[in-house]
Amino acid sequence: MGLMSYSMKVAIVYTSITGNTEGAMEIVNDYMKRYTQQCYVYQVEYFPFYQLESFDAIIIGTYTWGSGDIPHEMMRLYHAFENYKTKDIVTGVFGTGDECYPNFCGAVDEFRDMLYVHSTLAATLKIELLPQRIDEHRFERFAQVVMERVNSKKGITV
Ligand SMILES: Cc1cc2nc3c(=O)[nH]c(=O)nc-3n(C[C@H](O)[C@H](O)[C@H](O)COP(=O)(O)O)c2cc1C
Repeated sequence: MGLMSYSMKVAIVYTSITGNTEGAMEIVNDYMKRYTQQCYVYQVEYFPFYQLESFDAIIIGTYTWGSGDIPHEMMRLYHAFENYKTKDIVTGVFGTGDECYPNFCGAVDEFRDMLYVHSTLAATLKIELLPQRIDEHRFERFAQVVMERVNSKKGITV
């Protein structure tokens, strides 16, 4: 596989209450493991913030709360990108939401806007509730785009 870059250090940092975003995280993790042997998954409460700047890529997974809001437990991560040196870290953000709400996956949009400024944002992905088989190719593409961006920053020919 042309994109295999085993030394890339990737974190998937997520939160999930009823399991939808956790299900999405597992699929993202499966695809990321095609590209690197160093893909670490953290529930946001256990993320080692002191290591934030050591990752080549950070992928964020979040549900949406309130009226299109970021869950409170994700706010420390959100602010960390504003306060640490993260501009060179490649990021992706995925989320699950419910299309019944006017602001579908609003937390993904909130993270996207911040990450666009404070990181090297590669991709976003919104999933309706629990991931379905029909979503599979979008997960595959999401992981591919994130890793392509890491590789292009590192100057690896693919
Ligand atoms: C009180 C409440 C508010 C919500 N607000 C939104 C919203 O504004 N936009 C949206 O897309 N989904 C909203 N949702 C739906 C959740 O984001 C969705 O069910 C999500 O998949 C839950 O993720 P989890 O299973 O990982 O906890 C809301 C759910 C609840 C219970």
